[in-house]
Amino acid sequence: MLHGAHGSATRKAMEILVALGAIYGARRMLPVTSVQIAGVSYDNLGQAGLEFLSALAAGGGRTRVLATLNPAGMDIENWAALGIDERFAADQERVIAAFAQMGVVTTCTCTPYLVGNLPRFGEHIAWAESSAVCYANAVLGARTNREGGPSALAAALTGRTPEYGYHLDENRQPELTVRVRARLAENSDFGALGQVIGEQLQMEGARVPYIEGVEQASLENLKSFCASIATYGGVALFHMPGITPEAALLSPPQKTVVVNQEDVDRASASLNNATSAEVDFVSLGCPHLSIGEIARLAALLAGQRVTKEFWITTARPTRQIADRMGYTQIIEASGARLVADTCCVVAPIRGRFRALATDSAKACYYAAAKNHCRTMLRPFDEVVLEALK
Ligand code: F3S
Repeated sequence: MLHGAHGSATRKAMEILVALGAIYGARRMLPVTSVQIAGVSYDNLGQAGLEFLSALAAGGGRTRVLATLNPAGMDIENWAALGIDERFAADQERVIAAFAQMGVVTTCTCTPYLVGNLPRFGEHIAWAESSAVCYANAVLGARTNREGGPSALAAALTGRTPEYGYHLDENRQPELTVRVRARLAENSDFGALGQVIGEQLQMEGARVPYIEGVEQASLENLKSFCASIATYGGVALFHMPGITPEAALLSPPQKTVVVNQEDVDRASASLNNATSAEVDFVSLGCPHLSIGEIARLAALLAGQRVTKEFWITTARPTRQIADRMGYTQIIEASGARLVADTCCVVAPIRGRFRALATDSAKACYYAAAKNHCRTMLRPFDEVVLEALK
């Protein structure tokens, strides 16, 4: 591949991986079974990114393993309803076409594990998208580094990744025990907990926590937690006894920190700086919603009318199940939008809204940092009430 026997795109991809391997001291390349590619929204890629992708596609780049895509900057089938302008839509469609030409499955979701890209325990994979990386390593027990868009695409085109970081046992050992003494029920609680632990790890200079005291966590709670701890602490892997698969094979480190209810409440309060009167944008679906969450939303919105712009974001296949079940019709009859392929962070909405209400700590972070919005973090049902006020 490196010598060009498989074409110029494959050679370029292998050059990227060899350079990465040299930087990180990898001894060899590993075969991967699954790839998740980020860097899909034209809002993030710009013209340079589009040209890079088009050149790889024109150079004969073809995926060698299952590769799926992160959210794009718009709903691919219904972008006009989101107020996306035509030029942006045309460039975004070129990005998606370049990926499709290379054989990347254009799922456009940050929860590929809900729509058929579901690696098993111990599999070596190459995923970008920090929340999905954390979910893959911690919850599924697969092995991936936090890939960037180009390195994930390079892994897809070669079926290889350099062996370093979280592919190796020694880097998956916990370095700090975190003892949680807080009530955790809602996604917003898990998001606030992710913020506390993420920031604590940064202060301690630790990367992999062993988290005790979390007795129950649903799939949805875990995807929220993964998104938050990855955002606030750059965390790619954690262990939770009784919940994540590798925890049983490991011992808690002696060095311990305690997280109390007050810590979680303080984190939550730090993300609540908007009043109801200021909120003009409501969004659920960061990370993308499961079909269970959409069913819950349909029940909450049945016969109601929203008063604010309300985006409910999910993967296209999940949306199709919602269509079949009649959930989409109920949700859209309320005035809310059930949106596929994108989210409130990667869509080009800077300057359109003043304040966001959401149940996602990650969405709060980016609403403030990227879109200069004030934020309101609330439990799922209360976010819906906010949209109805
Ligand atoms: Fe997914 Fe967008 Fe949140 S990519 S994790 S919904 S910021």
